[in-house]
Amino acid sequence: MGKLITFEGIEGSGKSTQIKRVAQYLSEKNVPSVVTQEPSGTGIGRKIGHILFNRDHMDICRETELLLFGAARTQHVREVIMPALAQDKLVLCDRFSDATFAYQGAGRGLDTEIVKMINDFSSMLVRPDMTLLFDLPVEIGLRRATERNNQLSEPAATDRFERENLDFHTRIREGYLDILRKDPGRFRLIDASRDVDVIQADVRRHIVDFINLKA
Ligand SMILES: Nc1ncnc2c1ncn2[C@@H]1O[C@H](COP(=O)(O)OP(=O)(O)O)[C@@H](O)[C@H]1O
Ligand SMILES: [Mg+2]
Repeated sequence: MGKLITFEGIEGSGKSTQIKRVAQYLSEKNVPSVVTQEPSGTGIGRKIGHILFNRDHMDICRETELLLFGAARTQHVREVIMPALAQDKLVLCDRFSDATFAYQGAGRGLDTEIVKMINDFSSMLVRPDMTLLFDLPVEIGLRRATERNNQLSEPAATDRFERENLDFHTRIREGYLDILRKDPGRFRLIDASRDVDVIQADVRRHIVDFINLKA
């Protein structure tokens, strides 16, 4: 079986930047790996994502949000993650089940037991082997996310989650740190307020150590 490494953290914490770079590095090292993301790691997931992120959908209720992320996850686990793990690949996934605990649990205030039940069902009990948590002050993350959206050739509208207030994003940051405290063996905490290259060195070190350990 391969291994699943997840990248987690608030908006603008640098997950996508870092996963892309480390994927390039792993491919240079000939490590068979797959890079994917939630909820848009499959065609069905991308469509579900359009419903979830659309800023015109501010009235989606939190239970619907939980179930839609769950639906996208099941599709992703079956279509992408399980087959890759069965082929002994290293799967690098930009957000996974911890995001549901942080966003729909801590952020939206849904009962943790319900979130756990939906998460277990939708992930078919696939659990990350290691999780890199990119942590930084919420204000910095949101500022970076806004700058990123503005830099696109067709600037992206701030999505439904980015439009939420600082309190919401602060609960998410705290939510992630709570999960880390409950499961410290699986997590690697990364100070994401530093330079891209410095963070990348940490990311590579954690992944290289992890592969060697398990090799
Ligand atoms: N360490 C960093 N320092 C400064 N800017 C960064 C850093 N990491 C990423 N960025 C920039 O911040 C924005 C958000 O990064 P991104 O990787 O898209 O975050 P996420 O995927 O976690 O939302 C991008 O424009 C990216 O270029
Ligand atoms: Mg991203």
